[in-house]
Amino acid sequence: MDRKLVILGAQWGDEGKGKIVDLLSENYDVTVRYQGGSNAGHTVIANGEKFILHLLPTGILHNHVVGVIAQGMVVDLDVLDRELEGLREKGIGYEGRLLVSDRAHLVMPYHKLLDRLFEKKSGIGTTLRGIGPAYMFKFGRKGIRLADLDDERRLYSLIEENVAFVKDICEKVFCENHDLDAGRIFEETLEKYSKYRGLVRDVSQYLLRTDKTLLFEGAQGTMLDVDMGTYPYVTSSNSSALGLSNGTGLSPKFFSDAYFVGVAKAYTTRVGGGPFPTELEGEEGKRLRDLGGEYGSTTGRPRRCGWLDLVALKYAVELNHFDGIILTKLDVLDTFDEIKVCVAYDYEGERLEHFPASLKVLESSRPVYETLRGWKRSTKGAKELKELPQGAKDYIRFIEEFTGVPVIMLSTGPRREEFVWLRELPQIKVSSL
Ligand code: IMP
Repeated sequence: MDRKLVILGAQWGDEGKGKIVDLLSENYDVTVRYQGGSNAGHTVIANGEKFILHLLPTGILHNHVVGVIAQGMVVDLDVLDRELEGLREKGIGYEGRLLVSDRAHLVMPYHKLLDRLFEKKSGIGTTLRGIGPAYMFKFGRKGIRLADLDDERRLYSLIEENVAFVKDICEKVFCENHDLDAGRIFEETLEKYSKYRGLVRDVSQYLLRTDKTLLFEGAQGTMLDVDMGTYPYVTSSNSSALGLSNGTGLSPKFFSDAYFVGVAKAYTTRVGGGPFPTELEGEEGKRLRDLGGEYGSTTGRPRRCGWLDLVALKYAVELNHFDGIILTKLDVLDTFDEIKVCVAYDYEGERLEHFPASLKVLESSRPVYETLRGWKRSTKGAKELKELPQGAKDYIRFIEEFTGVPVIMLSTGPRREEFVWLRELPQIKVSSL
C-alpha cells in the first residue's frame, strides 16, 4: 500500500497538482510523468522562488528525487533544454536524477505549426504546444521516438517524409506555404539530442526493477482525458488513471497496490473551449477568477470559472478509483455569503446524476444546485483542522458524503507549508492530525 502513490487531476486540469506533488514527493524516491507534454504548467513555490514546470516531473526540485519522463509523454527537446537550463541557473543539479524513456515520442517543430493551423478551425483552445499533432503522428505511425535518434539514416528519412506530408497539408488544406527544411530540422534535432543522449534509457525496465518508492504525477485532469473526458474538447492523451499503464509500459497489475489520490479545486475551472455545466459567466465568475488568480500558467489565458461540479467530481472518483481527494484553494470561497454545489444536471426536464458522454446532452444540461452557507472567515494559510470554521468543515463533509471518499488533505495557500492533513496517508508521517 505504501510504496506507490498516484496523483491525478480530478477536474479539467489546473487543480494545483504542482504544489501537491512537490510537497508529497519529499517522501518519495522517484517521480514519474507518463502522459502529455509541455502543455502542462505545474506551479511550485519553493524556498520563496516560483517555478513553473511544463515538461519535467515536479519532484525534480528535490535533490534526492529521481525524475522520470516515461514513454507516454511527448517530448519537446527545446522545452527540455530550457527547463534544465532554468534548473542549472537556480543551482539545482539533476545529474544522475533524470531519466527519459527511449520510447517517448518527440514533439517536432512541424507539430507546433500544425497545432496552430488546426486550432484556427477547431476552437478547442489548445495550448499550441504541438501535443495533439505529436500524438496524431504517433498513432498514425509516423512519429519519431527518442530511440530513433541514434539511427541517423532512418531519422532523416522519417523527417523528410513528415515534412513533405505537413507541407502538403499546409498547402492543400490551409492554402499556406511554410518554410520547412527537412535538413535543418534533422541537424537541429540531433544537436539538441546530443546534449541529453545520456538521459535516455528503457525506463519501464527501471520502474519494474527498482525497489524505490514511486510517485506517479498525472498532468491535465480527468475531464480532459481523450477517452473519458468531454471529447473532443480534451487533450490527446489519457490524463485519467487509464493512462498509467500504457504511459509507463507497465501492466495494470503493477498499480494494484498503489494509493490513488485525486486533486480537486474547491470550485471548478477550465481553459479552452468545451462544455462546462457550472460555468459562471457574470460577476460571480469574475469574482472567482480574481480571487483565485485564475489565469493559465502555460498560456496566460483567463480561466473559465464556476461552482464545484460534484457530478463531474464523483465521475472522476469512480473512474479513477480514488482512495481520497486533496482539496485545493478552499480559501477562494472564504468571502462568499452562499456557496453552491452542483449535485445533478437537468437535461430537458430529466434529472441526470451520472456524467454523460454526449456533447449535446452536456451542452444543454443545466446544473441543479444545493446552496450551502458561506463561512465568511479566512482559511488561508491554515495548518490545523481546528483553525477551520465550521462552515468550511461542513463543505468538506458534503463533498466526502457525495463522492464517497475522504478528503485527506486541504491545501490552504500556494506555499509548501500551507496545508492541513485531514487523514493519514500511507508512507507519510502526519504530525498535525
Ligand atoms: P492541448 O493539450 O494543448 O492539445 O489542449 C487541449 C485542451 O486541453 C485545451 O482545452 C487546453 O486548454 C487543455 N489543457 C491542456 N493542458 C492543460 C493543463 O495542463 N491544464 C489545463 N488545461 C489544459
